[in-house]
Amino acid sequence: NNRKSNSRGALIVLEGLDRSGKTSQSSRLHSYLEGLGYLVESWHFPDRNTGVGHMISSYLANKSQLDDHAIHLLFSANRWEKRSLMETKLRSGTTLIVDRYSFSGVAFSSAKGLDIEWCKAPEVGLLAPDLVLYLDLPPEKAAERGGYGGERYEQLEFQKKVAHSYQLLHDPSWKIVDAGLPVEEVEKQLTEMVMDCVTTCRNGKALSQLWS
Ligand code: TYD
Repeated sequence: NNRKSNSRGALIVLEGLDRSGKTSQSSRLHSYLEGLGYLVESWHFPDRNTGVGHMISSYLANKSQLDDHAIHLLFSANRWEKRSLMETKLRSGTTLIVDRYSFSGVAFSSAKGLDIEWCKAPEVGLLAPDLVLYLDLPPEKAAERGGYGGERYEQLEFQKKVAHSYQLLHDPSWKIVDAGLPVEEVEKQLTEMVMDCVTTCRNGKALSQLWS
């Protein structure tokens, strides 16, 4: 067992365009950490299983219409409703691998033209990730991978705007990984970054809050 008592888990977030490979890399990271004996869970936002999540899901499937500000606040509320569980898990030593988080919230809404500071405001006070892994893929390459399922945002022109918005959010704590590399190579790079982060958190790095 690699877990020291009292040591906390790490909050690791994967971000990137639709089809950048976040979901499959999340599950590879999960298996890797589990194999080493760490406590680990995979999370995903939006969490479509809550009441708020049902509203988001219906909006994404174009089954309902909502003002851009209103849907932004629902995505944020969907993170707030999971915040205390997130903190409990981390403090009890579980590492969370989270597929999309506040950065998706801000990047997608600001790509529609909403003010970026307005978009960040409802995220303030959520837990800050210990590591953000950005799977970098040009929008054209992501579109070529196919499998855009026809949800609201899965269109090339819009994804180009999202890519631009993400660039405004990068900070030095982000690790940018070339998602065009072979899957195993991406996995290898992510694994090294994650192991560093997990170790830092076990050694006492404090939990902090967005948006600093
Ligand atoms: P996701 O569930 O990750 O897509 P998939 O159906 O491929 O699993 O996310 C659905 C969409 O919602 C995606 O295009 C990104 C967008 N999104 C926001 O606009 N704001 C947010 O806060 C989040 C988490 C996602």
